[in-house]
Amino acid sequence: MTFAERLPASTAVAAPAPDLTQDQVRELRLAHGALSEANGKLSEAQDKLVQSEKLASIGQLAAGVAHEINNPIGYIFSNFGTLERYLGDLFEMLAGYEAAEEEMAGTPSAAKLKALRERIELDFLKEDIPTLMAESKEGITRVRKIVQDLKDFSRVDAHQEWVWSNLHQGIDSTLNMVNNEIRYRADVVKEYGVLPDVYCLPSELNQVFMNLLVNAAHAITAVRGAITIRSGTDAVSERVWIEVSDNGGGIPKENLARIFDPFFTTKPVGKGTGLGLSLSYGIVRKHHGQLDVRSEPGLGTTFRVTVPVNGPSPS
Ligand SMILES: Nc1ncnc2c1ncn2[C@@H]1O[C@H](COP(=O)(O)OP(=O)(O)OP(=O)(O)O)[C@@H](O)[C@H]1O
Ligand SMILES: [Mg+2]
Repeated sequence: MTFAERLPASTAVAAPAPDLTQDQVRELRLAHGALSEANGKLSEAQDKLVQSEKLASIGQLAAGVAHEINNPIGYIFSNFGTLERYLGDLFEMLAGYEAAEEEMAGTPSAAKLKALRERIELDFLKEDIPTLMAESKEGITRVRKIVQDLKDFSRVDAHQEWVWSNLHQGIDSTLNMVNNEIRYRADVVKEYGVLPDVYCLPSELNQVFMNLLVNAAHAITAVRGAITIRSGTDAVSERVWIEVSDNGGGIPKENLARIFDPFFTTKPVGKGTGLGLSLSYGIVRKHHGQLDVRSEPGLGTTFRVTVPVNGPSPS
């Protein structure tokens, strides 16, 4: 509801009472404008507060879960490596026994061994065990990555350093890292402006760029799409901005308010955890910056990161 709609009919600005002077009407209009603007700012601030509260509580939860899962995952992962080695040894031993079995052909022991081998379907086991091991390893690796994401998400990064950094270099190295996700789906167009070095946590900002670039690549629906990276400065506010645009499927209106929520994803299981944008939002907020999105379903999406050149101002 707009401010004007909320006014009682007698004070409605659009249809001034006949006894109001021109000056009073003008003043009322000005006041209306100022109030609508204030109203807009208030609801924007409210949205941001809700978002940061959500992030704070999910952050605590994530930190707890990540901590609890991290230890068992650690030893499962390391035991797995040892198990693989042991299995290799066992298979070697088995090959030795099989050779020996051939030499014992015709004896009762050989017949017993053959019966046993057939009962347990040894040939099938030998084929299936490596497949099972590989699948399990992939699963554990995926869980470890999710736990790492959760830790990153909840972390107040003590050992990260604030430094003056060239964001274009960061984006370029990030592009190299995600090249595999992008190159088969889209061409990358760089429209870099001239950027000053920015006081920031470079590896965290790179994580933001990575999320945005991978999301852009995943959004491409055509055989081949384009991802455009633009950058520029706003000299007045001493801020720089980076945009990642894609000409993919876009984001339906009803999802727009939810994409920054932790665990919101439209991707199939295994493809996305839904943490990328909420992580990115937290990182940009830590820089006292802004993460905005514009999207046209069917045409594409643009994410814009804006951060202050001089880092977060003391608050
Ligand atoms: N460029 C984009 N175009 C279309 N939809 C997008 C785009 N970026 C994000 N989205 C939508 O927002 C959702 C949330 O994105 P987010 O990066 O947080 O999680 P994810 O990519 O699904 O999983 P993760 O990043 O954790 O692997 C996505 O699942 C997708 O629906
Ligand atoms: Mg993502």
